[in-house]
Amino acid sequence: MPKPKHHIIVCTNTRPPGHPKPSCGAQGSPQLLMAFNMKLMEAGIMPGEVLVTGSTCLGPCEQGPTVVIYPDGTWYTQVKEADVATIINEHIKGGKPAESLKPNSVWGG
Ligand code: FES
Repeated sequence: MPKPKHHIIVCTNTRPPGHPKPSCGAQGSPQLLMAFNMKLMEAGIMPGEVLVTGSTCLGPCEQGPTVVIYPDGTWYTQVKEADVATIINEHIKGGKPAESLKPNSVWGG
């Protein structure tokens, strides 16, 4: 398998009802992960060229859903399904973080 150009990691962590911290999973991140897979296919990006992986908690739960993209280590917070196309077009295809989504540089971007 060739080395992927990008790895998109989507926090899909969930917490039990009543837990004091919010979770990305409760804020729609499983649907977000599916949207990344669908939009990548629609964009003609071959499986393996870009990996999409769900993860446990990435840290900034209060700002979720959280997405991080490697190899550049750009973090996106409060990601909505409507943002997926922007991230794919500007970051994955265009090669630069999507400025309109204000990637969170504090977390390494
Ligand atoms: S639950 Fe997603 S960052 Fe913590």
